[in-house]
Amino acid sequence: AALHHYLSIADLERAARKRLPACVRGYVCGGTEDGVSLQQSLQAFSRLGFVPRGLRHVAQRSTATTLWGQTYAMPMGFAPTGFAAIVMKDCDAALAKVAQAQALPFIISGASTVPLEQLQNAHDQRCWYQAYLPGNMARILPLLQRLERAQIPVLVVTIDTCVGANRENLQRLRFTVPFRPSWTLLLDGLRHPRWSCDVFLRTVLSQGVPRFANLAHEAGPAITADPPHGFRGERDQLDWDCIDQIRAAWKGKLVLKGVMHPEDARLAVAHGADAVIVSTHGGRQLDACISPLQALPEIRQAVPAGYPVFIDGGFRRGSDVLKAMALGADLVFTGRPQLFGAAVAGEAGIAHAVQLFRQELMTNLALLGVNRPQELTADCLRIQGDFSL
Ligand code: FNR
Repeated sequence: AALHHYLSIADLERAARKRLPACVRGYVCGGTEDGVSLQQSLQAFSRLGFVPRGLRHVAQRSTATTLWGQTYAMPMGFAPTGFAAIVMKDCDAALAKVAQAQALPFIISGASTVPLEQLQNAHDQRCWYQAYLPGNMARILPLLQRLERAQIPVLVVTIDTCVGANRENLQRLRFTVPFRPSWTLLLDGLRHPRWSCDVFLRTVLSQGVPRFANLAHEAGPAITADPPHGFRGERDQLDWDCIDQIRAAWKGKLVLKGVMHPEDARLAVAHGADAVIVSTHGGRQLDACISPLQALPEIRQAVPAGYPVFIDGGFRRGSDVLKAMALGADLVFTGRPQLFGAAVAGEAGIAHAVQLFRQELMTNLALLGVNRPQELTADCLRIQGDFSL
């Protein structure tokens, strides 16, 4: 169907779920253990309701957002999503291209498969890089040098992945990273011809299983990607001391991703991080967490006024984004929505997902009675169903 038939991110998700084989669908859509963190991230928005204002001049609306000398078209960006090549051939490159065309920040995943230099070339200063770091400076320093050479302006260190999570759903579906095609997947692929053609024929059969191109340990001694010696092996030794050493060695902006406790937000400030991303990794790491949206106000309070606080997890509507902005977020990142777009229609689908958010933001700003998302405060929000008579 033509893209204009997909009227919402939910429409794209429904179509994407149909187009992906079960194990890939599980990888993209799934959470961990009982899926509580994932569900909470999605449901939190409905616990807050707007109290809009009327009769205010809203003809000068703009979603433009300035951060660290860059202007972005919206207070939104693409969160890092590893192994996106399993959704669409060269998905990292398509994401970078759309982000550039639409003037959004794009965080290259540490588990991406297109060399970051290639993505960055196409994408002048809008590519940030997310690292899964081992607690071992000998492995970190060569990566920092590589990022500097590629003129990556922002390093995002993910702090919620000190060990791999309990992804029961992927074990059941026999989805493994590194990826090994199975007979079950091949059979399932027959029922998903678009995916099979793009990812199986044009990628796996012609070029082999996509390999990680941007991992931190590449410059160190040869190791495999499998625990206990692989890129996960030394992650459980990453600590605040490493952050200090990274801060001393890295001239660009430093962002910590996966901050949920206000005390960690305070420590991030104290250790020289330039921003935090409030996140539960899309419900893909620790299960049974509160939603990032619920964690946001406490974290906003814990850091100095004006300190950049970003958030991700479960954002599917422009109104979701505006609720986080009203609670003091500076940027909102999405992970799955653009992958749904990619699964449905490649690069055009990714761009469509962005357009949906953009249109919803513009409409909802007007209906709330403001011209810019940054004007919103908690004053426009109430807890849904919390009557006081
Ligand atoms: C992720 N996420 C993630 N985060 C990260 O720091 N590095 C990574 O490589 C990945 N990989 C990854 C793959 C896939 C398929 C998904 C869906 C997510 C988490 C991601 O950056 C972000 O925190 C969440 O995706 C946000 O939640 P939503 O928008 O997907 O609900």
